[in-house]
Amino acid sequence: MKDMHSPPRQRARLKKPTWIIILLSFVCVFLVFAYVYPLQNSGACYIILSSSCNTLYSWLPPPARELSDAEAASRVIIKNVLDLPSTESSNPKIAFMFMSPGSLPFELLWEKFFEGHEGIFSVHIHASREKPVHTSRYFVDREIRSGKVDWGKISMVDAEKRLLASALKDPDNRHFVLLSDSCVPLRDFDYVYNYLMYTNVSFIDSFDDPGPHGSGRYSDHMLPEVEKKFFRKGAQWFTMKRQHAIIVMADNLYYSKFRDYCRPGMDGRNCYADEHYLPTFFHMLDPHGIANWSVTHVDWSEGKWHPKSYKKYDISYQLIKNISSITQSVHVTSDTKKKTMVMPCMWNGINRPCYLFARKFLPETQDRMIDLFTNLTLF
Ligand SMILES: *[C@@H]1O[C@H](CO)[C@@H](O)[C@H](O)[C@H]1NC(C)=O
Ligand SMILES: *[C@@H]1O[C@H](CO)[C@@H](O)[C@H](O)[C@H]1NC(C)=O
Ligand SMILES: *[C@@H]1O[C@H](CO)[C@@H](O)[C@H](O)[C@H]1NC(C)=O
Ligand SMILES: *[C@@H]1O[C@H](CO)[C@@H](O)[C@H](O)[C@H]1NC(C)=O
Repeated sequence: MKDMHSPPRQRARLKKPTWIIILLSFVCVFLVFAYVYPLQNSGACYIILSSSCNTLYSWLPPPARELSDAEAASRVIIKNVLDLPSTESSNPKIAFMFMSPGSLPFELLWEKFFEGHEGIFSVHIHASREKPVHTSRYFVDREIRSGKVDWGKISMVDAEKRLLASALKDPDNRHFVLLSDSCVPLRDFDYVYNYLMYTNVSFIDSFDDPGPHGSGRYSDHMLPEVEKKFFRKGAQWFTMKRQHAIIVMADNLYYSKFRDYCRPGMDGRNCYADEHYLPTFFHMLDPHGIANWSVTHVDWSEGKWHPKSYKKYDISYQLIKNISSITQSVHVTSDTKKKTMVMPCMWNGINRPCYLFARKFLPETQDRMIDLFTNLTLF
């Protein structure tokens, strides 16, 4: 037994100086790199853990490569818009932007929501298929020029941009909310108004999914402007502060990368621009300016291709209570690990309920929702 063990030990003793030399050379090479590329890549930041890294990374991540003219121009515009002091408005409004194929089934519920708050909100409707028939005065004549929307294609992002462009025309609009025809409010108007108006972030869903429904959809054609490590995923239902709405309008560079290389059938895979463009854009250009979760709740727990659709008999006091008391946002990766990431919903440093709206509600739920909504103790 002893004999059998001694040869490896001898070998180990012989190799020791060699290992020390190799280790020392690694340290030297690392130090030389760290000196030559001072804090230019995030790897170095992790190891050195210098505080200057944090401040550097709190702003645009400086890429190790030289920026093209278009990128340099784009970044300087974005930085300047974000640095502008937000102009005060004596009458700050919230823009509610509805994306729908046609008529909106919840106009009467939204009417209850808006009632009594005239003058501090505006409604904008993008109806992509047919002209809506209105049941509420707040929605009459609020349609904007619209275009066809193909599910998963860039035309979805185009519709979002069209809504923003229309809502930005009113200088009093300070925060912009994107909603679908199947969205319902979970809170009363004042709660929503204060939640959105008195925070300095946009509620844009953005997380790192290394799986096939996340970075698996990335295409190298997006290089050099969009690197795979910055590629993010998130639900399209955002709320956005005015400065962010302006930089989305100003962006053509990153937009065109997603238009051309994040689409169904790209490189034999399906990429959906509406799930990746804004989450990636904001992650790259203003990571601390977004909350990383969406204030619109959706239930994917059934594990199907579509989220749960609430029917009439699903609607109860307890259901709304349950959804509106959630204070943590959850993201699950689409790889085999199915890693679950739980994050407390922090609003100005306080852990608060995450959700103001919810989808997908079938039109048949409206009467039940109105009954609940008028029970002021709940909303
Ligand atoms: C938002 O406000 C908080 C607290 O006032 C501050 O710490 C944070 O840096 C601000 N964030 C942005 C993106 O301005
Ligand atoms: C959102 O995520 C980014 C990157 O993961 C992070 O830097 C940022 O601080 C997060 N935002 C908030 C408000 O926590
Ligand atoms: C509400 O949440 C409780 C506790 O998680 C659960 O037992 C109940 O089934 C939920 N009710 C509804 C209607 O979702
Ligand atoms: C109204 O809210 C109270 C709780 O505050 C609840 O007990 C009651 O059942 C609700 N009414 C209806 C009609 O849902």
